[in-house]
Amino acid sequence: MCGIVGYIGHREAYPIIIEGLKRLEYRGYDSAGIALFDGTDLKVSKTKGKVAELENRIKKEITSNGSLGIGHTRWATHGVPNDVNAHPHYSNSGDLVIIHNGIIENYASLREELQKRGYTFKSETDTEVLINLIEDVKIKEDVKLGQAVQIALNQVVGAYSIAVFDKNKPDEIVIARLGSPLAIGIGEDEFFIASDASPFIEYTKNAIYLEDEEMAIIRLNKEVKIRKIHDDSLVDPYVQELQMNLEQIEKGGYDHFMLKEIYEQPSAIRDTYRGRLKANQGIIKMSGVEDNMKKFLNANRIIVVACGTSWHAGLVSEYIFEDLARIPVEVEYASEFRYRNPVIHENDVVIAISQSGETADTLAAIKLAKSKGAFVFGVCNVVGSSIARETDAGAYTHAGPEIGVASTKAFTTQITVLTLIALRLARAKGTISSSDFRLHLLELEMIPDKVQKALDSDAYVKTIADIYKNVKNFLYLGRGYNFPVALEGALKLKEISYIHAEGYPAAEMKHGPIALIDDDMPIVVIATKKGHYDKIVSNIQEIKSRNGRIIGIVTKGDKTVKELADHVIEVPETIESLTPLLTTIPLQLLSYHIAVMLGKNVDQPRNLAKSVTVE
Ligand code: G6P
Repeated sequence: MCGIVGYIGHREAYPIIIEGLKRLEYRGYDSAGIALFDGTDLKVSKTKGKVAELENRIKKEITSNGSLGIGHTRWATHGVPNDVNAHPHYSNSGDLVIIHNGIIENYASLREELQKRGYTFKSETDTEVLINLIEDVKIKEDVKLGQAVQIALNQVVGAYSIAVFDKNKPDEIVIARLGSPLAIGIGEDEFFIASDASPFIEYTKNAIYLEDEEMAIIRLNKEVKIRKIHDDSLVDPYVQELQMNLEQIEKGGYDHFMLKEIYEQPSAIRDTYRGRLKANQGIIKMSGVEDNMKKFLNANRIIVVACGTSWHAGLVSEYIFEDLARIPVEVEYASEFRYRNPVIHENDVVIAISQSGETADTLAAIKLAKSKGAFVFGVCNVVGSSIARETDAGAYTHAGPEIGVASTKAFTTQITVLTLIALRLARAKGTISSSDFRLHLLELEMIPDKVQKALDSDAYVKTIADIYKNVKNFLYLGRGYNFPVALEGALKLKEISYIHAEGYPAAEMKHGPIALIDDDMPIVVIATKKGHYDKIVSNIQEIKSRNGRIIGIVTKGDKTVKELADHVIEVPETIESLTPLLTTIPLQLLSYHIAVMLGKNVDQPRNLAKSVTVE
């Protein structure tokens, strides 16, 4: 986690860095800092809190400006969020300055070594250890900064992306990456550095993404030099043209990114299946699947690995793959999978799902599965991300940038991609009839319009939010395809409103959660017409007889649940396997409105980060 930004060129560095940090706040926002070289000296300003607080502080602390600087927005790993632990950190001499995203695991022993050699430390961070190690190497070995960074990193165990400069050599920034992303924007006589391309998108469309174990020396008026950190070989820089535009990463008139992203779902889902789904011709075409069809058809089972909301999308896919393509599926938390010596066979297909494509646990699970010979297929949103590159093949969700920390459009587009894959495999295996296949395709094509209709309930959902905003606990129930949606609904509420919420399979309620039910306890029940409807109506009766307050998510025109529930929110009718794409919408809106009414920071909830690049 943590966001890093850097600039070297002919413009004023400060506005580029501060704006860049704001765009990277999704990566962490407990403290922020900036180091600028103003032409004669190094100026560092840092503070606990958000980038806006840094901006206020800088107004007082830094008056002059320059064209070289680095900035950081932090998600604490070593040391509490405070001014001292905030980045940048500098070396004992005050010459070298660093920003770091990641964890140096052997920092304690390195620190001890350095202390013996007379180094002192102001902060509790692993990063301050690293910058002093670099300084120690530089002095001891009498080498240039680039070499010192390289030698130091060879002594380090852990994950990092770093940017370092020396105030005595203000025409150069040295950067390196292992496990955390880092991009270089190539402008005319200027370079940008950032955790992703969003900080420099209005300045250049040309970017180099560093690979793991690579470092770059970025020098003014020179070509970028990239080399491998461990074996010192030179790497040919590959310059990519960015597809992202500025509009996509701005709020576009919405109060929050989360709301914008909820409302983007009809178009995001359409973008996901564009060029892949031809409903009228009865065709699904996905190159990543076609090229590896044999692997999929020979698969004994599919193992899905993911975290958070992506794991919930994986759970939905378990129902789809088993139901339609008759392939056994196991859905695993990547963090558990990677450490429990799982049984993996060569004819297992592993599907890794990740919005960011950078989640450390998912990445490690992929590496493990690959080392055991499994074929690994990625479902990612961020193009060119680590997971997209590490997997053997994959399919992008094409949802566009998701900035709100609580994931919304990533979830529905992941389900869309996974549904396309399952349908394609079902057709190839002959486990679905051609008429049923055609029906699924036509229904899927209509989903964006139906999501749009589901969004029409927004104002009504807001009135429900107002009624329940002060309760302490929520229960979410669903069955079958909508059980994972119940989990996702509960997660959304927890994440942004800090209200305790649990998702449960509706029938499991009687094995525990039923004890919690009283007239203070709102229970969201997903009770669409398709899929175990009568059973869920019985569950609703059980809640009613214990005075629970029911918010039903129902199919348009439903009468039975309407009579029993305190409130019903309608979604359009569709086939059972596609209901999650609709039932999710009111749950996203409910959590959004409750969080706004409670005055919470919807886009940047406490303690969370969008991209979890530490384990
Ligand atoms: C974090 C985010 C979640 C996300 C999860 C997995 O916890 O806050 O919204 O679902 O990571 O992220 P990924 O990028 O792998 O989907």
